[in-house]
Amino acid sequence: MFFDSHCHLTAEQFDVDRDAVIQRAVDAGVTRLLTLATDVESSRAVIALAEKFDVVFCAIGIHPESVRDSSLDDLILIRELAKHPKVAAIGEIGLDFYWDKTTADAQQTFFETQLELAAELNLPVVIHDRDAHEKILGTLREMRELKELRGVLHAFSGDEAMAREAFDLGYVISFGGPITFKNNKRAPDLLRALPLEKILIETDSPYLTPHPFRGKRNEPLHVRYVAERIAEVKNLSIEQVAAQTTSNAKKLFRVM
Ligand code: NI
Repeated sequence: MFFDSHCHLTAEQFDVDRDAVIQRAVDAGVTRLLTLATDVESSRAVIALAEKFDVVFCAIGIHPESVRDSSLDDLILIRELAKHPKVAAIGEIGLDFYWDKTTADAQQTFFETQLELAAELNLPVVIHDRDAHEKILGTLREMRELKELRGVLHAFSGDEAMAREAFDLGYVISFGGPITFKNNKRAPDLLRALPLEKILIETDSPYLTPHPFRGKRNEPLHVRYVAERIAEVKNLSIEQVAAQTTSNAKKLFRVM
């Protein structure tokens, strides 16, 4: 039913009960989980986890926050690891100027190189964008001639104009816990304005926990609250939102 398009199942927050967390999600109707890597080490780890569970697929790559501790040679390994059949995307990649602006140039290099790698491997990308809307869109615009490039802007925090430009460039967007926050005044109008066919749902667990569990560790089974919020705002049933967003994710990612 639900496709959690973005979670970090290999995060240490799940070390005590990882298998139980996945089982709870399955029991709650989560039929696919995409777990994201942030560096070479976690790329190996997400592949190992995806080998263990049928419902788990993975994305591998170097996250902007990991750029400082990575080398471009790591991408040779990522390219090799990406041949694994449970690797459904390259990610997460992107730019994060909130966390660290001093590595901006290196982040840009890793971002572009990984976009090229994804195009070469014909895999979609999962993009992290924090305080970097202009640079992200500009880069995707410049690289639009790579026809194989497609992907998702995860935990989307832009406005309607940005979403529409992303759609034009062949990308979809994904929403998580923050749309359930009562103080998120922007989300309802944005969700109403955008077509469900271009939207994925995610938890980003263990982070970005939705209302009413805000402050606690997030888990993939909470993806239901994200779907519920979209259903409420767009006046649809939760089943409709689950079915469409799952279909969108299956269309994008290399998942069997
Ligand atoms: Ni993430």
